[in-house]
Amino acid sequence: MYDMTYANHPFDVVGWDGCEYPYKTSIHNFEPITGRIHQPPPVHQQFDANNFVICSFVPRLYDYHPQSIPAPYNHSNIDSDELLYYVDGDFMSRKHVTRGMLTLHPAGIPHGPHPGAVEKSIGQTETKELAVMVDTFHPLHLTEEALAIEDASYKNSWL
Ligand SMILES: [Fe+2]
Repeated sequence: MYDMTYANHPFDVVGWDGCEYPYKTSIHNFEPITGRIHQPPPVHQQFDANNFVICSFVPRLYDYHPQSIPAPYNHSNIDSDELLYYVDGDFMSRKHVTRGMLTLHPAGIPHGPHPGAVEKSIGQTETKELAVMVDTFHPLHLTEEALAIEDASYKNSWL
């Protein structure tokens, strides 16, 4: 991440000719770093705030080492809750997760590819997935509306 400082505040003008950057950006313009081996999650980080980060998972080439395994590894985030919104495409590492779904993995809960997803990923060269992840550095509190749409069987989807 790096800072960008403008000489004049953009609100301190009568008008200007050009785009609305940096107040508006398209996820389709985000280009993550790719590599021969699996890249760490921060390559997907598009925004950084005091108590959370936003990562964009966009169409990209998978790891291109001949022996690479494109599926992510199992992990548990000890410092953040992880909320993922699956926008579009095929979500390689998860079975039963489809467009429009949200998943929430609270801090410390181990999670990763569903059974068979690692094997299925071998040899694949690219993904068309589009997903947005919010990692919060304080626990998220679920509303009654969120609890009402919970899929209680999700936790068993790794079995
Ligand atoms: Fe995760």
